[in-house]
Amino acid sequence: MDARHIHLNQPSTVPSFSELSRYALTARVLRKALLAHLDETLQAVPYQEGEIIMIKLKINGQEQNWGGDPDLPLLWFIRDEIGLTGTKFGCGQALCGSCTVIVDKQAVRACVTSVSDVRDREVTTIEGLHPTGDHPVQKAWRQLNVPQCGFCQTGQIMQAAALLMGNPKPSHDQIRESLSGNICRCGCYQRIENAVHLASTGV
Ligand code: FES
Ligand code: FES
Repeated sequence: MDARHIHLNQPSTVPSFSELSRYALTARVLRKALLAHLDETLQAVPYQEGEIIMIKLKINGQEQNWGGDPDLPLLWFIRDEIGLTGTKFGCGQALCGSCTVIVDKQAVRACVTSVSDVRDREVTTIEGLHPTGDHPVQKAWRQLNVPQCGFCQTGQIMQAAALLMGNPKPSHDQIRESLSGNICRCGCYQRIENAVHLASTGV
């Protein structure tokens, strides 16, 4: 009997299809019970008629209400629930910066921030940075032709805009430090840094 034969005769630790179906059924039953409980809780709160609110937040100046899973990542809410797809999904683990949005003047990774984390707070996405796309950072970006493929650029711009909100004249090292968590697979780093400098001069 060779090693492979022994391995094949071991009891399987992989759940069978019928076991998986049972788990899924249990999950559906639990979810239903939880939603029923939430409904009951919500109805006990004296909200205005027709208004079902669990979490309120503002995105680009518009009030949004969310009565679903409070742990839903903000990135999914922004992209899937309200259809603002300018914010990108890259790593999903706060490692690349492509999902960066601004929450109350701070750059935040929307992939690891839940909707409940931003309850009653102001979120700005790339769509809300400037009504005509003429924020100084966006103007500097255009002037220096910063993007290559463009995938990381929303995150870079939002990170840079957040930096300038708190520090309008950052030094070279401060720009580098602030954008060090935003990865550009096309390697546009030099143009990005130059554009942040340019934006800080008020283009
Ligand atoms: S997708 Fe959020 S940091 Fe990469
Ligand atoms: S421009 Fe392509 S990833 Fe940055």
